[in-house]
Amino acid sequence: EKGGFDWFMRKEIFEQPKAVADTLLGRFDENHRLTLDEVRISETELKSIDKVVIVACGTAYYAGLVAKYAIEHWTRVPCEVEIASEFRYRDPIIDPRTLVVTISQSGETADTLMAVRHARVQGAKVVAICNTNGSTIPRESDAVLYTHAGPEIGVASTKGFLTQVAACYLLGLFLAQVRGTKFGDEIATVMTELESMPAKIQQVLDASQQVLDLAEELHSVRSVLFLGRHVGYPVALEGALKLKEIAYLHAEGFPAGELKHGPIALVEPGMPVFVIVPPRGRDQLHDKVISNIQEVRARGARTIVLVEEGDDEVNPYADVTLRLPQTSTLLQPLLAIVPLQLFACEVATLLGHDVDQPRNLAKSVTVE
Ligand code: BG6
Repeated sequence: EKGGFDWFMRKEIFEQPKAVADTLLGRFDENHRLTLDEVRISETELKSIDKVVIVACGTAYYAGLVAKYAIEHWTRVPCEVEIASEFRYRDPIIDPRTLVVTISQSGETADTLMAVRHARVQGAKVVAICNTNGSTIPRESDAVLYTHAGPEIGVASTKGFLTQVAACYLLGLFLAQVRGTKFGDEIATVMTELESMPAKIQQVLDASQQVLDLAEELHSVRSVLFLGRHVGYPVALEGALKLKEIAYLHAEGFPAGELKHGPIALVEPGMPVFVIVPPRGRDQLHDKVISNIQEVRARGARTIVLVEEGDDEVNPYADVTLRLPQTSTLLQPLLAIVPLQLFACEVATLLGHDVDQPRNLAKSVTVE
């Protein structure tokens, strides 16, 4: 059942190319238009949306943070992301023109379900991104986009996350299509890039030995930092969460630019700092992150840099370089999270923890 792997989690990490490919499969109708799985909202209603609010918990929330960048970029509709347990207690401003998007692997998370109910009472439409057919959240929603990760047994989500991120891109493109902010050929271009991702995820997995060696070297550290900007920021948060959940290590993810406003005080000589470097592009994002790497390294951090193949600008400042296949900034989370998942899994294994059943955690939390 674990297919030769020691843990379900490790097996699920290695299933990610297929899980993402399955999630992307068969999304176009006979008119070459993107479709959701179940839609009980009219096109007119979708066109009138003036705000998207994403609600989710844990890893799914981090997938939502990635989604915000894609949805705003492709649709030009403002998008907020909120922890589900905070949502209904702050009197959120939602109305029939708000599209609430929930992300939940299980479809049973109580905090997320309560957010759905609250949103619908206010007249908002709800789209559920979910991995479990017929679970409560999709049943109570106005539209559903199923991820096709297959059953996820490991409590710490891995393929759940990657398929949620993939589904968020699909939803962003779908909304852009409905609203006319992206046209067929542009959508096809992004879809082609998305469809190339499973093979690239496989390439990252094929290079896993380097990550295992790193875990061997670092598993007795006390604390680890993760830095990213733009969509690399949620990747940093998720990388830190994985270490907390299964390795019980203190880990924090920060927006790299925020370092100098406080967190850099944490940096001690020898402290591992993972940095996700965005692809080289027209904006200054890439160069800013390189500066951030220099800043922590000047304070003695051991820098572990996740960076695209061919980008040698980081070399002077990277103690360890983990190479990622080239892709666009927006899609890079699908690649960048994979070494961080593997790192957490291996560190937890070396520390002798039960990776699949971490202490104090449940796969699905059905109480608020
Ligand atoms: C937590 C799980 O309890 O719930 C996390 O341990 C998960 O792994 C979170 O991300 C949200 O779960 P779901 O099913 O709503 O995606």
